[in-house]
Amino acid sequence: MKRMLTGLQPTGVITLGNYVGAIKQMVKLQDEYESYIFVADLHAITVPNDNLNLKDNTRSLIALYLACGIDPKKNTIFVQSQNEYHANLSWLLECNTYFGELSRMHQFKEKSKKSNNFTVGLLTYPVLMAADILAYDTDVVPVGIDQKQHVEITRDIAIRFNNKYGKTFNVPEPLITKTGTKIMDLLEPTKKMSKSSENQNGVIRLLDDDEVIRKKIMRATTDSETKVKFDPENKPGISNLINIYSAITDKTVEEIESMFEESNYGTFKKAVADVVIDELSRIKKRYYEYLNSDLIDIILEEGKKKTRVMAKAKVDAVKRKMGFYD
Ligand code: TYM
Repeated sequence: MKRMLTGLQPTGVITLGNYVGAIKQMVKLQDEYESYIFVADLHAITVPNDNLNLKDNTRSLIALYLACGIDPKKNTIFVQSQNEYHANLSWLLECNTYFGELSRMHQFKEKSKKSNNFTVGLLTYPVLMAADILAYDTDVVPVGIDQKQHVEITRDIAIRFNNKYGKTFNVPEPLITKTGTKIMDLLEPTKKMSKSSENQNGVIRLLDDDEVIRKKIMRATTDSETKVKFDPENKPGISNLINIYSAITDKTVEEIESMFEESNYGTFKKAVADVVIDELSRIKKRYYEYLNSDLIDIILEEGKKKTRVMAKAKVDAVKRKMGFYD
C-alpha cells in the first residue's frame, strides 16, 4: 500500500482553503493509502507570533482532523514536536541543501518581505518539511498549490542525497486536486484565502458560525456581469465560488455552470452558502464532542510511539550513509 502524509500548522484558524487543500483529500483517500497526518507545530514558530497558543491550538487541530472525518483507525496522527527526529533529520538535510535554492522559494520571498527581521527558520522551513516527508518514505503529499514548490524541493533534496550517498529516500509526489488547488479570498479573489489575512471577512474559518459564513459568502466580491461562468482571469470572484462549490459537492465546473445557467449571482451565492454551511455544521458539531474527549491523548500517544520508531530508523540510516560514528 502506498503511503500518504500531510501536515497543517496549528495557528488557531483553520480555513476552508486548508480543509479543501489538504484535509478533505486525506479523508477521501484514507482507504487507499497508509496515511499519516500531523500537526506542524515546529513550522508554526517560523514567524514570530506572541499570541500563538500552541497547546490549545494543537488539541483543537487534532479535534478538527477527527471531526472532518480523519479516522484514527486508518491514519497515524501525531505532533511534529513530539518526534525529535524531524528536527534531527532536518539538520542533516540542511547540510545538503543550498542557501540559493532556499532563498528562491516563493513563500520565503513573500513572507520575508513582510519584516526586515525574519528568522532563519523561515528560510529553512522547506527543509524541515522535507524531513517530515522523507522520514516516512512517503509516496504522496496532499497539499494546496501554494505548497507544491516545497514538495518539489523535497524531491530535489531526496534525489540529490540518493545520488550522493546511495538510495536512502523515497521520492514523493505532490497530490493536488484540480478544483481545490487554491481557494481565494472572498473579498480579494486574486489573493489566496489565508488565515493571516487582515480582513477576515474574506476568509471562511471552519469554526465560523453558520450566519457568519452566509454573510461572508453573500458579500463576496463578484463582477459586473450576471453569468455564472468559470473564468479565473476575468471573473476571479465567481470562479472562486464555483471552485468552492465544486470542492464541497464533487461536481465538475461544467456541471455547476449548467446547473446555474439561468441563475443570478444572488441565487448562486445562496446555493454556495448552503452547501458550505451544511458541510461545516456537521464538522462543528463533532469538533466540540472530540475536543474534550480523552481520545485525543490516546491517539497522540500511539502516534508518537509509532512515528518515533519509524523516523529514528530513517535518521540512523542517513547518519550511517553520511559516515557518522555509531
Ligand atoms: P498550512 O497550515 O499553512 O497549510 C495547510 C494546508 O492547507 C493548504 N492551503 C490551501 N489550499 C487551498 N487553498 C487555500 N487558500 C489554501 N491555504 C492553505 C496548504 O497548501 C497546505 O496543504 N507547510 C505546510 C505544513 C507542512 C506540511 C509538511 C505539509 C509542514 N510539513 C509536510 C505536507 C507535508 C503548510 O503550508 O501548512
